[in-house]
Amino acid sequence: MTAAPALPDLPEDDQLFLLLRQLDAAPEASQRETAAALGISLGSLNAQLRAATEAGLVKITDRKGPDRRQRFVYALTTRGAATKARLIDPFLARKYTEYAALHAELTGTPAGPTPIKYRSTLMLNNLAPIPELYVSYESAQKLKVEAADLVSWDLTPRQICDLELLMNGGFNPLKGFLSEEDYNGVVENMRTADGTLWPIPITLDVSEDFAANLTEGQDIALRDQEGVILATMTVTDNWVPNKSREAEKVFGADDDAHPAVNYLHNTAGKVYLGGPVTGIQQPVHYDFRARRDTPNEMRAFFRKMGWRRVVAFQTRNPLHRAHQELTFRAAKEAQANLLIHPVVGMTKPGDVDHFTRVRCYEAVLDKYPQSTTTMSLLNLAMRMAGPREAVWHGLIRANHGCTHFIVGRDHAGPGKNSAGEDFYGPYDAQDLFREYQDEIGIEMVDFKHMVYVQERAQYEPNDEIEDKDNVTILNISGTELRRRLQEGLEIPEWFSFPEVVRELRRTKPPRSQQGFTVFFTGFSGSGKSTIANALMVKLMEMGGRPVTLLDGDIVRKNLSSELGFSKEHRDLNIKRIGYVASEITKNGGIAICAPIAPYAATRRHVREEIEQYGAFVEVHVATSIEECERRDRKGLYKLAREGKIKEFTGISDPYDVPQNPELSVETENVDVDNCAHQVILKLESMGLIAGQ
Ligand code: PPS
Repeated sequence: MTAAPALPDLPEDDQLFLLLRQLDAAPEASQRETAAALGISLGSLNAQLRAATEAGLVKITDRKGPDRRQRFVYALTTRGAATKARLIDPFLARKYTEYAALHAELTGTPAGPTPIKYRSTLMLNNLAPIPELYVSYESAQKLKVEAADLVSWDLTPRQICDLELLMNGGFNPLKGFLSEEDYNGVVENMRTADGTLWPIPITLDVSEDFAANLTEGQDIALRDQEGVILATMTVTDNWVPNKSREAEKVFGADDDAHPAVNYLHNTAGKVYLGGPVTGIQQPVHYDFRARRDTPNEMRAFFRKMGWRRVVAFQTRNPLHRAHQELTFRAAKEAQANLLIHPVVGMTKPGDVDHFTRVRCYEAVLDKYPQSTTTMSLLNLAMRMAGPREAVWHGLIRANHGCTHFIVGRDHAGPGKNSAGEDFYGPYDAQDLFREYQDEIGIEMVDFKHMVYVQERAQYEPNDEIEDKDNVTILNISGTELRRRLQEGLEIPEWFSFPEVVRELRRTKPPRSQQGFTVFFTGFSGSGKSTIANALMVKLMEMGGRPVTLLDGDIVRKNLSSELGFSKEHRDLNIKRIGYVASEITKNGGIAICAPIAPYAATRRHVREEIEQYGAFVEVHVATSIEECERRDRKGLYKLAREGKIKEFTGISDPYDVPQNPELSVETENVDVDNCAHQVILKLESMGLIAGQ
């Protein structure tokens, strides 16, 4: 006989899972109660508890009660909770095998009802509950107190979206932010290290400074933007990713014109952290609460309604008649009920805001036959990754209990690349989806491009119209719709529902009544401030909207007095200006900004922030550096040449010349009044000020 080991071995995986699950469900229970619930002896429970405690999965605290037998409390640690989440899939798989064997024995058929080929088919059907990463309410209260002492990371808006779907099972079977090995697999061939299909990297990007102070295996707290602890994470991986490779493989090109590539290079942190997540609480939403459902809530709803087949429609745009027609047809074709599943997390910069969209969806919902259709809001942060995104969307909808998924033309397309061409072919998403459909566990209903046939007064799939030459086919593109809204033009009833058009007009009045930002950029001494001042006076003379001038010097005195001229400080300065201008624009005013703003990426950041609310008019004051130096109004160029001012733009610091400004003005041999007038003409041509 061998001697007993000094440390007891951890129980077998299934035993350990049951133990952790029990401690999570009833952390206050006595040992006797826990042993009874597990159906094991006290001695065996003690051995298991000792092993789990040694392994850092369980924590013992002293209750200090009168009853000696109930003195100790055994609660899950962060690591214990993550281990429990990790063990649930193999546990279910083994249960499923047992079930299949039993089924075979009872029915006499050798095979079970469905072969377990992939993890997604592990769920017996679309209605059974799926695993979440949350601990029980009782455990969460304990972990929250402990987590207050951990190093914490303040999540970005995108990370909050990702975390929510990780925790509630929307990203099942992921158990946390991807490890380096899983990330490499996902980037290279859409699979995590164990072969699971997963097309989009879900990573926790952080700053170099934050990452530098972490050790492997350390637990960190993940907080929302108000400081509430939503989860903890055990950091198993900490690495600097090859972002260009990620861009090429996941998004198809390392081109900043792609919104997610731009995010990757210019917003995301330099370092990625990976590791299992333990869910403490859901992110808080104050808006449309009744319309938000977790995958398990969705599944419970389908169970309750008896919906066995459900087709999901993903959207980031308002619904018009064509959408209603196509979703209705898709549901009929699939003989399924319909789930309108709009994304309200993060969509493409410049999209209609989700508040407006949800009001529009509510109006359209009434147009479907009663009790065939429902709507739920999905807090997903889209990446606009076209084909890979479609596969991702399918996996997410399968997790929400849907059996069918509509994939349209150019699904989740990001628009044009920097050469003016589409990033993806119009049917690439459908092709990729078809390839992986079985594995995703959801059937594709491919989108028919619907057009309006005037003579028959109805929508029909374009490819099914046989008498094209004899009928009038009508269609309004997204661009045309935006133009009509911007200019206050008619939007016909055959195109949309009056309630939807009313909502859109309420949010987006004609451009001449909206706020906007004029953003001058150029070298010091190029004439930005002078032209900006002249423009301000002209706009004030016209009246109608309040005008605010955020001149470089004024801002540096009032908003950014502590900042210097390093790249970091300049970026911060411009982002502050952008923030103030976006608030002014949102509230219907005119913001005129006149900083140097030397970096293209930062100007783009500001543009995107402002374009959510109104127009961004970039004006390059294109005075050459030689001319600025010759004028040298403030005597700074001389000092810069003498090396007395460091990092001087154009002399010892870079300036990215704007590639596509709305306007470029030459100031040599042109007077200020004329320059300001050119801007006014531009504003008029963009519909931002009504013509005289
Ligand atoms: S930035 O890069 O956009 O943050 O710069 P900005 O806030 O517009 O400030 C530019 C004004 O600061 C003075 N100044 C310098 N400019 C460039 N480089 C260096 N190192 C520097 N040091 C001081 C300069 O007077 C700029 O004024 P303007 O109005 O552009 O002529």
